[in-house]
Amino acid sequence: MKPTVVSLFSGCGGMDLGFKKAGFEIIWANDFFRDAVNTYKKNIGKHIVLGDITEIPSSKIPDNPDVILGGFPCQGFSIANSKKPAYDQRNYLYLEMVRIIKDKRPKFFVAENVKGMTSLMDGQFLKNIISDFRDAGYKLDYKLLNMINYGVPQTRERVIIIGNRIGAENPFPKETHGYEKGLKRPATTKETIGHLCNVHTREEPVTALDPKTGKEKKYYNHWAKTKIDDEFWGRKYDVDQFEICDYLKHWRNKAGYGTKQIDDMFGYSYTAGHWFRKDNNSGSIPNPDDWWKLKEILGFDDTYDKQVTTMVRKKITYETSLRINNWDEPNDTIIATGSEIHPKAPRRLSVRECAIIQTFPDSFKFTGKIDAMHTQIGNAVPVLFAKKLAKCIKDELRKPMMIKQQPARKKYRN
Ligand SMILES: C[S@@+](CC[C@H](N)C(=O)[O-])C[C@H]1O[C@@H](n2cnc3c(N)ncnc32)[C@H](O)[C@@H]1O
Repeated sequence: MKPTVVSLFSGCGGMDLGFKKAGFEIIWANDFFRDAVNTYKKNIGKHIVLGDITEIPSSKIPDNPDVILGGFPCQGFSIANSKKPAYDQRNYLYLEMVRIIKDKRPKFFVAENVKGMTSLMDGQFLKNIISDFRDAGYKLDYKLLNMINYGVPQTRERVIIIGNRIGAENPFPKETHGYEKGLKRPATTKETIGHLCNVHTREEPVTALDPKTGKEKKYYNHWAKTKIDDEFWGRKYDVDQFEICDYLKHWRNKAGYGTKQIDDMFGYSYTAGHWFRKDNNSGSIPNPDDWWKLKEILGFDDTYDKQVTTMVRKKITYETSLRINNWDEPNDTIIATGSEIHPKAPRRLSVRECAIIQTFPDSFKFTGKIDAMHTQIGNAVPVLFAKKLAKCIKDELRKPMMIKQQPARKKYRN
């Protein structure tokens, strides 16, 4: 009999597909993102339930699965979103996973999240997560892994948390790829998606040569946005970053505040340090709103007000965009908010190209509008990595049982 999985926050099913490929049976899954659920149904199975997990009682979820998976949401943790406060509601959804683990008692659980989670609230948030899972009776380990070291053609750092209650080791897959001796060289963007570079993009399937077989085949979702320039709000006047940061530091000292106090006043970490060029590092200038708020606190003069706060619309062009991929190196992280500009074609990466970089099989078809498809793909755990992780867990489950079942210790935080 196949070992069983209950999957929470399943998205379109990157993680689940990896587990399925490794020989697990997914018996229940859930997400509240309709397009992702439709994609999941089309490619993985009809067992996925559409709905908000906070409204689903544990009694509706199958008992005693071997594994519970949960890529609990990362919006509140994302580095791209580092201004989000720690109390962002979405950051507490992991407690739903704790609730279900306590009620369903899987042998293992696996959670995945973005790197930013480790530094939220100076690391305290991760400590809370760890202690909540430990209190549920699980031996837990976590690691920050880069997907590129596991054969995924992409630099993508993620925190993987594994827990078990059967006295087993929490297994992490071995690195296979990298630039050190003995490891395989990671594939470049060109090697990964070069075969689709000059293939016309459109919503309907296209035909192109499959580099593995040398034969023509149908590719789905090779659909891309062609808008490669954009406008953004930028400063009208040139500013000397160091000069202004040093000026702010001078006024902060004069007002008798430390950086940490300013951080606390603004309600999030990371930012104030840059404004005052902490340790004389590069620094960054506050946006106009923060500038005015900071002025109220520090009482600085008007020297730089006009320079810092006069904003105009500016154009980002194809050539100057910072997020153009590198053709001869592995790809940057595929993100959920939209795709990068193609390094060799005047368009964005197509949905299919992003899916290939995320190691989805070519037969996996996405549903929804183009932005919704990019969200599903950018959110996913790369299938190849998930499969390797699943194999390690399956090996542990196959070992003679050594259940040292620990009862849940105390009620989890709510
Ligand atoms: C990081 S993604 C998970 C991706 C998935 N592990 C994969 O490999 O494809 C997180 C998912 O949580 C879902 N989600 C967020 N809040 C939810 C809630 N309250 N109930 C159900 N799903 C939720 C989002 O729609 C999103 O698909």
